[in-house]
Amino acid sequence: ESTELGHYRHYMQKEIAEQPAALASTLERALQLGFQPGLFGPQAEAIFASVTHIRILACGSSYHAGLVAKYWIEEMTELPVSVDIASEYRYRLAREPANTLIVAISQSGETADLLAAVRASRERGNVAVLAICNVPHSSLTREAELVALTYAGIEIGVASTKAFTTQLGLLFTLAATLAQQQLSAPPEKMAEYRHQALVLPKLCADTLAMEQELAQWAHELSHAGNALFLGRHQLYPIALEGALKLKEIAYIHAEGYAAGELKHGPLALVDEHMPVIVCMRNDRLADKVLSNLREVEARGGQIYLLGEAGCAAQAPFAHRSLELPACGELAPILMTIPLQLLAYHTACRKGTDVDKPRNLAKSVTVE
Ligand code: G6P
Repeated sequence: ESTELGHYRHYMQKEIAEQPAALASTLERALQLGFQPGLFGPQAEAIFASVTHIRILACGSSYHAGLVAKYWIEEMTELPVSVDIASEYRYRLAREPANTLIVAISQSGETADLLAAVRASRERGNVAVLAICNVPHSSLTREAELVALTYAGIEIGVASTKAFTTQLGLLFTLAATLAQQQLSAPPEKMAEYRHQALVLPKLCADTLAMEQELAQWAHELSHAGNALFLGRHQLYPIALEGALKLKEIAYIHAEGYAAGELKHGPLALVDEHMPVIVCMRNDRLADKVLSNLREVEARGGQIYLLGEAGCAAQAPFAHRSLELPACGELAPILMTIPLQLLAYHTACRKGTDVDKPRNLAKSVTVE
């Protein structure tokens, strides 16, 4: 793809818009070949068969992708999963359980803390390293036994967008592949996973079409000094990612929280000046999220609801609501897009340097 801006104002805006195509490219092989271990390298079948624990290592947005993968792998397979921030893991005396597969996630493949953490994991007795990376010839891919590439294309904006959602696409493929190999999911489930992956790019394109409404939300948000992002289950890491995007490019202090933790602290901050952006699925946890939202409403917080179809009617008290199409397990990918657009338009309103936020670098190659 081209590195020209074309009609876009910023690279970040262009990269957000490229997500349907980037996801289609990243998921293409899995859709053609099925959820086969071979997608992760010739040795993957034998390595996956011996693995009894997965440890995910990453930094920044890639770490948030790892947190979503934990929910997926735990739900779709019987494997226990741990997720660590690379800069913490490298200095922690973590003893690896036998047969641990390290999954190292990185857009650049050059993040210094991640490379050091991967090396530390070797001394702690991992069985192999699987690199999930956007750069084919990088330090990380050279060090890993197994490699799977995201096909996001070059990402220029410092704040990760298409690299993050394609990481999620590939991690979903990993979870489905492990489920298939372990036979922990019935064939109907496997067919459902395939269908979800197949329709995802189109649903992402539909979600991009909500940009104008999100630009209006951004107009309001640009006046805020703080913001709270809430989610549960697989959408909890997406709340973290939404808050990170707003901090990175719009310079608004934002926190992502597991909605169930609201009453353990952040509720004390909620008043009419606190925008609360909530990501919600219409699933078995919907009632729990609604009761969290009532707590916010009772304190005058301004609720911005991003929900799957059917959620808005359940929260008529929300200040603003937008509904996204339901896409099953892949909801975290779809739900990321409005949060990117919200941060982007808020930053534009504030006139920040969207593609090169102050003090931040695209790739952190020193400790
Ligand atoms: C920097 C970038 C982030 C990125 C993080 C990890 O902080 O600004 O967008 O998520 O590094 O980078 P990696 O290349 O390892 O995914």
